[in-house]
Amino acid sequence: MTTGPITVDGRRLWESLMELAEIGAYSDARTGLRGVNRLALTDADAEGRRLVIGWLREAGMSVRIDPMGNIIARREGADATAAPVVTGSHLDSVATAGAFDGCLGVLGGLEVVRTLNERRISTRRPVEVVVFTEEEGVRFGTDMLGSAVAAGRIPLQDAHDLIDRDGCTVGGELRRTGFAGEGAACFSPPHAYVECHIEQGPVLAHAGLTVGVVTGVQGISWQEITIHGRAAHAGTTPTELRADAGIAAARIVLHLREMVDSGRYGALRATVGHLAVHPDLTNIVPARAELTVDLRNPDDEQMARAEADLAGYLAELEGQPGITLSTRRMARTSYVPFDAGIQKAIAAAADDHGLAHLSLLSGAGHDAQEMAAICPTAMIFVRGEYDGISHNPREYSTPEACARGIDVLATTLVRLADE
Ligand code: GLV
Ligand code: MN
Ligand code: MN
Repeated sequence: MTTGPITVDGRRLWESLMELAEIGAYSDARTGLRGVNRLALTDADAEGRRLVIGWLREAGMSVRIDPMGNIIARREGADATAAPVVTGSHLDSVATAGAFDGCLGVLGGLEVVRTLNERRISTRRPVEVVVFTEEEGVRFGTDMLGSAVAAGRIPLQDAHDLIDRDGCTVGGELRRTGFAGEGAACFSPPHAYVECHIEQGPVLAHAGLTVGVVTGVQGISWQEITIHGRAAHAGTTPTELRADAGIAAARIVLHLREMVDSGRYGALRATVGHLAVHPDLTNIVPARAELTVDLRNPDDEQMARAEADLAGYLAELEGQPGITLSTRRMARTSYVPFDAGIQKAIAAAADDHGLAHLSLLSGAGHDAQEMAAICPTAMIFVRGEYDGISHNPREYSTPEACARGIDVLATTLVRLADE
């Protein structure tokens, strides 16, 4: 018999989201908007994790920390030997975040468990809520890091050795914050993984819908480019004698935009989100420039051709007098399709809650794309306001939309946990 729809306590969910958003909160100097800055494994992230662990324990869950700092909370089922149904997301944020990215998935999982406890609903399989470490990748350079280790794609030691811009390592920061846990780094395959996340885009809002079923995640390619030129006097050095690393960096930025505008690479998106010149002074020709390139594409073949185009352009730039260049791969994932059966279960749950929905591809990366390698996986998206703007303090989903997304999560999880 299929379990009927389960409605969570939307007010309690919202209060938890708002309380967590106080940790790492800052006020944007220009707009006055309140944002969240909880970069992975900083003191703020550790404080947020401790708050949430307290809540998970209060909900009666056992909590363990793995060697990657992933937090795994478990509510037992009737059959302790059955593979669990897992949900989760991340608590770390970009430096200019809102209250919802990642947090909705974690606190939504907690709210599901609180609701099951209150209604005395038991499931056959255990239900686990996971907090993955460094999903954003902005501190240590590789996104979905905790889930990639859990799924066995990235070796634990490689993850521990990553360094931030101040020279701190992941391993060192895990120990410093008290989140270097024990046990196996890789998860045993769960029965299923379902993650609820804000859409971070405009599709649901434009369609006038509250929830969506996610069909998969587009490919992501991140690299860092370092350009070496020659520092020289800005007033006396003739243009033809300069090796200006700043100009070379600017050319790359414009070339990427031309690649996108040409349409040759399908739905390619390209972003240079970090760009710095050295020595960074008014009257000195830049000796060095550093930039990051973020490419996204739902088509793996188009992505590979776009990467080859960029590599060819970099080789051309290196042919210029005095300019040398190096690249460092930061992250690379292919298009990940989600499981058709789990998508169907989510759609059925949304139907049973009387929620119209559509299917859509994720533009952003998510922990679910890593979990998809080890178990049937799919995601629920919740509508965002203001065209779904995200990675911005303006990020906002209404209490109603958050609650409806977690209703769908609750119903889906319980049905899967009774399989
Ligand atoms: C994760 O937020 C991403 O960059 O897609
Ligand atoms: Mn996220
Ligand atoms: Mn994010």
